Amino acid sequence: MQITELSIKNFRNFAIGDFKFKERTAITGPNGSGKTSLIEAIHYLSSFKSFRSAADSKVVKIGEEDFVVNCSGEKEGESFCLGMQYANSKKTLSLNRERIEKLSDGFGVFLSVVLSIYDKLLSHQYSIYRRKFLDKLISTIDDQYFENLIQYHAILKQKNNALKQNQQRTLIDTYSAQMSSRSEYIYERRLEFSSYFEEVLNRVYARIFGKEKLIKVKYYSSKDNGEYTQLPLLEAARRKFESEQRRKRTVCGVHLDDYVVTVDDHPISEFGSEGEKILLGITMKAAEIQLIYENRGEYPVIMVDDAFTELDEKKRRSMIDLFEEYPQLILTYPTGKSNDNDYYTIDLGDKR
Ligand SMILES: Nc1ncnc2c1ncn2[C@@H]1O[C@H](COP(=O)(O)OP(=O)(O)OP(=O)(O)O)[C@@H](O)[C@H]1O
Ligand SMILES: [Mg+2]
Repeated sequence: MQITELSIKNFRNFAIGDFKFKERTAITGPNGSGKTSLIEAIHYLSSFKSFRSAADSKVVKIGEEDFVVNCSGEKEGESFCLGMQYANSKKTLSLNRERIEKLSDGFGVFLSVVLSIYDKLLSHQYSIYRRKFLDKLISTIDDQYFENLIQYHAILKQKNNALKQNQQRTLIDTYSAQMSSRSEYIYERRLEFSSYFEEVLNRVYARIFGKEKLIKVKYYSSKDNGEYTQLPLLEAARRKFESEQRRKRTVCGVHLDDYVVTVDDHPISEFGSEGEKILLGITMKAAEIQLIYENRGEYPVIMVDDAFTELDEKKRRSMIDLFEEYPQLILTYPTGKSNDNDYYTIDLGDKR
């Protein structure tokens, strides 16, 4: 998998821009010149949303109405071009200039992974980042999981609205029943996936750090004291009805599940130093890359925002060496920090 060209219009601070990419590309420029925005645009063609969790409307250049991102590249030795247009709150995707009706059919056409400071959040005490990360991973290898997840969240939204409007119990129960049937599959797949992910994580950790540590990934289904695992969700929701009515939101279900990652039995989110959290974030991303390779047969395009500048120089260098083993690597550096002269360089300078 490789990207060779990118053209964007009204994306973040770029009114218009055309860029070429090689196997090793460095993007440099002063703070605020658009380095992160450029890799955000590339990654948008993999996930159809911003890796910075920004709403689509915030990605559109201020004062404009729509944005366009097009890329050309190579996949399994064949060239392709993929384009996304966002206008009137709608996304339109095209592959080789032909429209793809269902956005979900476009997943997997272009694979990319971004490493950035946001990866530290994977060790955050809040579960949402880990849950979203693992949901994305499972979705890349299981379409049915993705479908169930989308449906579950759509019903959850309806149920929460109904709770806010004090709707009748029968309606709330109907939503709970619909959520319950989707959550069975979600729960089973998460459980199964967490042991696969644990195995990949251990392999990747040993490769990155040259030493073995015991990494465990434990899946906790619902913060509801795990009660839901013994009980069908519908039953649990029925028991919680009064509480849900009072709090005006759904308090049990797979949207609250968590994964606890421990290194040598220490939960990193509670005991990890900042550096350890960063390193675990990198390891989890490397596991994502490995997983994509094992399930899709190709390495994604890898982008590292601010090229591990938060690590000490020795670690930074060894991370870059390691990631240089992958087919395509795109790094960003603030001006003056780059020391990888053999890279093809996109200098954003001050011109915007
Ligand atoms: N929707 C938008 N429309 C116009 N400009 C935007 C929009 N969103 C962000 N910006 C601006 O785009 C500029 C580039 O942001 P970006 O995060 O890509 O910079 P960067 O080169 O990565 O900077 P840094 O080195 O500080 O990380 C910033 O000045 C930011 O305020
Ligand atoms: Mg940046």
